[in-house]
Amino acid sequence: DGAEGGGGEKSAIHFLVLTSFPFPSSQCTNGHLMCAGCFIHLLADARLKEEQATCPNCRCEISKSLCCRNLAVEKAVSELPSECGFCMRQFPRSLLERHQKEECQDRVTQCKYKRIGCPWQGPYHELTVHEAECTHPTKTGNELMEILDEMDQTHKKEMQLYNSIFSLLSFEKIGYTEVQFRPYRTDDFITRLYYETPRFTVLNQTWVLKARVNDSERNPNLSCKRTLSFQLILKSKISSPMECSFLLLKGPYDDVKINPVIYHFVFTNENNETEYVPLPIIDSVECNKLLAAKNINLRLFIFQIQK
Ligand SMILES: *[C@@H]1O[C@H](CO)[C@@H](O)[C@H](O)[C@H]1NC(C)=O
Ligand SMILES: *[C@@H]1O[C@H](CO)[C@@H](O)[C@H](O)[C@H]1NC(C)=O
Ligand SMILES: *[C@@H]1O[C@H](CO)[C@@H](O)[C@H](O)[C@H]1NC(C)=O
Ligand SMILES: *[C@@H]1O[C@H](CO)[C@@H](O)[C@H](O)[C@H]1NC(C)=O
Ligand SMILES: [Zn+2]
Ligand SMILES: [Zn+2]
Repeated sequence: DGAEGGGGEKSAIHFLVLTSFPFPSSQCTNGHLMCAGCFIHLLADARLKEEQATCPNCRCEISKSLCCRNLAVEKAVSELPSECGFCMRQFPRSLLERHQKEECQDRVTQCKYKRIGCPWQGPYHELTVHEAECTHPTKTGNELMEILDEMDQTHKKEMQLYNSIFSLLSFEKIGYTEVQFRPYRTDDFITRLYYETPRFTVLNQTWVLKARVNDSERNPNLSCKRTLSFQLILKSKISSPMECSFLLLKGPYDDVKINPVIYHFVFTNENNETEYVPLPIIDSVECNKLLAAKNINLRLFIFQIQK
């Protein structure tokens, strides 16, 4: 799409970048390895070009049924050191989860009075001091009632969200697909990062997703609070307006922490792209992880509303 940086990206396949190997691995019938993200990417590209996908190394055919995971590689990778996101020390991948969850002195914890409304969050080594001086346990009954009311409201909103997801799941027309946002730069004087997915087909229509960092922010590296927003674009011509709900969630291979948010839009031939809406990543740490990754892999659901 006329963007620089994209062309070079396309042919770069991670063959075995061991230290940053977040996915299960796949191998072709000749034993060439690729990470699951790249594997899916090759299959998706091939589908779009209506070609048979081939291994970029030996050109043999690849497909989900012809390729298998390489458990030996996955095991070797799981033993390589990996950095704790809180204290930055290195641990074998297999121990990291427990370290981050239960042992790290810098892991983010919440006050035990969270249940009565204390919003404090901080590193584990400061928790005891905070809890000793936390004012929440001395609040009056009336103050606590107010806090609990607010918490009930939040809870109610969550329940409404889940209920609407459940009712969407009983729609007749539901489509979903793995989408891969790839980074590009605009060719403005000061280039700006944006993301775009290859075209994909859902509900028999062709679509594209675009994403950008902090809306129109040109130099988002100056802030520590980063957000991503995205838009869904209909590329096919349609014979009648198409009213949809859509939702981005974590895909099968990437560990992206994302809150489900349902968006609605009525697509027509003239009004064929949504506004940019927030990509509901849980926080800016998570957002940075996405920006640091080569691509962003998510799963998109589209529910067509039929009247
Ligand atoms: C999908 O679209 C094609 C052409 O746009 C059309 O011929 C076909 O009937 C459609 N299939 C369904 C299931 O709607
Ligand atoms: C990015 O967006 C967040 C939330 O809207 C805001 O707090 C932050 O200042 C923005 N960053 C920049 C560089 O504008
Ligand atoms: C942010 O980006 C600008 C150029 O776009 C660069 O000069 C600056 O050093 C960067 N700041 C940080 C903190 O990385
Ligand atoms: C999308 O809408 C714009 C503006 O109305 C129009 O110029 C463009 O041709 C449309 N694209 C498609 C694929 O229909
Ligand atoms: Zn740690
Ligand atoms: Zn507290």
